[in-house]
Amino acid sequence: STSFSMGKSAQERGLPYVPECYVIPTSHRPSLTPDVATVPTIDFGRLKQGPDERELVIEEIRTACRQLGFFQIVNHGISQTVLDEALLSASEFFNLPGSEKAKFMSNDVHNPVRYGTSLKDGLDTIQFWRAFLKHYAHPLADWIKYWPNNPSNYRETMGKYSSEVKKLNTEITEVITESLGIGPNYISKKMEDGMQVITVNCYPPCPNPEFALGLPPHSDYSCLTIVLQSCPGLEIMHTGDSKWKQVPQLHGALQVHVGDHFEVLSNGLYKSVVHRATLNSDKTRISIASLHSLRLEEKMGTAKELVSEENPGRYKESSFKDFLNFLANNDLAEGKSFINTLK
Ligand code: SIN
Ligand code: FE2
Repeated sequence: STSFSMGKSAQERGLPYVPECYVIPTSHRPSLTPDVATVPTIDFGRLKQGPDERELVIEEIRTACRQLGFFQIVNHGISQTVLDEALLSASEFFNLPGSEKAKFMSNDVHNPVRYGTSLKDGLDTIQFWRAFLKHYAHPLADWIKYWPNNPSNYRETMGKYSSEVKKLNTEITEVITESLGIGPNYISKKMEDGMQVITVNCYPPCPNPEFALGLPPHSDYSCLTIVLQSCPGLEIMHTGDSKWKQVPQLHGALQVHVGDHFEVLSNGLYKSVVHRATLNSDKTRISIASLHSLRLEEKMGTAKELVSEENPGRYKESSFKDFLNFLANNDLAEGKSFINTLK
């Protein structure tokens, strides 16, 4: 397609209308005035305030994971400067000329560093109002040399953010498996050695945000995804009333998504959250999603402690690589989900 070869998508050209290839079916269009989600906010500082306080936090996390598959954390230990600088480098990257970004363009989902617009450039049926840069981030020393070095501090600021989020992921993983009653060390070591994929998203202003989406509804194929956003736009599906609700912006907070592989591990006790990205008419939204999973080919199965005669295992095991193969052969815009192939 033209957008693929020119390295510049229709949305980046600042059109005053939404081209037809971005327009989604009426029934799937977002509301301009979405309900605001009540998102559990977990104060991570409380984990270190003694065993009773820790137990209360674990209870809050258990409830959030069961009811929503989503929560946000404050007092996570990553400084505001690290967060702000990562967002700034990201936005500077997307502001570069198309030719500079096109150096990283690829529609091969197995590529460890790739830039694109929409989902899979040139292969999508419906286009999404997004540009993204995806790069593997762990072990950082193996991958950082392939990341952009324009802006000149990109590797430094994004590398710092990545390694701090990686550490935070281990802490969250420990608390989540503890909340499942299988102990804090159940998979934390494997996760530490596992994959980290950073997806940096840029959603430019859209002249008619009710006609298009930045990302279609999906759940993440990670164990956990940790997201930093510059302004609101993320919507989650509330399982209670099956309604899309907007995640409010809380300065300095990070959003945590339960991914498909935690749903599998928990035998469905915890649900991966279905979410989508909506657009703003007046501002560019940047989000940085850090996906954490086991190693590329390592299979995630259900914890045997959570399987019994009354509660048999409900999922097939799978690896991150299995998901990538699914992604290469399926169109997410058609609403197919990886987790459904495991049931
Ligand atoms: C994602 O689903 O990976 C990103 C969502 C967002 O932009 O907040
Ligand atoms: Fe996602």
